[in-house]
Amino acid sequence: MTEALCAEVLRNLKGNGFAHINQPVSFPTFEAIAAEMGTIELVSEIRIDADHAQQLHQTRKVKTRPSPYKADALGFHSDNPGMDVLAWYCREQDPKSGATLLIDTNDLPSYFTAAELAGLSKLNLWYSVRSKESDEEQLFQIPLLIIDSTGCYVYYQPWLFLDSYDEVQTRLLQKFSEYLADKQQTQTISIELTKRECLFIDNRRILHGRGAISSDSHRHLTRFFIRTFHNLRI
Ligand SMILES: [Fe+2]
Repeated sequence: MTEALCAEVLRNLKGNGFAHINQPVSFPTFEAIAAEMGTIELVSEIRIDADHAQQLHQTRKVKTRPSPYKADALGFHSDNPGMDVLAWYCREQDPKSGATLLIDTNDLPSYFTAAELAGLSKLNLWYSVRSKESDEEQLFQIPLLIIDSTGCYVYYQPWLFLDSYDEVQTRLLQKFSEYLADKQQTQTISIELTKRECLFIDNRRILHGRGAISSDSHRHLTRFFIRTFHNLRI
């Protein structure tokens, strides 16, 4: 059963950039699908947790970043670009506003000119790495866009821009944010996981975010960072 589910998830990840298993599965099944797909590099419990938010804040170099452990909305972004797949298992959902919001950047090459795509490939952002959530994070740089023979690989975190960009890069970042705003208007994919459902996304194709939830929300997702054994683009 796990093998069949994993094959279905991979098929959807390759075709649509995401896979929503909209039937209840046990946590061990979710874990087995993820393990079949690749190496689970990090497990995080995503829920409102003031102590955890404070711990993360202390280990972060960029203090203005939003936190998944708080109730505030999270703008569209990627997670650690070294991770191919992000996966969430729903343990408890918020009945009002717990949807996970997705934007598919698949059409990026048709929105930007070849020169702009080349510019985005040289425009760096910070990304942070930690092997445990309690570790002090380390910051590295990566381009917003990497294009190779298999496709486009996007990385975007609007709170991890470098301190300054030249004029051309500033215009490109502005255009990228307009691209996202346009897509947000008409093409946001909203996935409301119910208890025991799960969602997998291609972290280098699909940007994810969330609306604000109430500060006493019981929404609780377990998130995996997965490095896959498979190339999702071929
Ligand atoms: Fe995230």
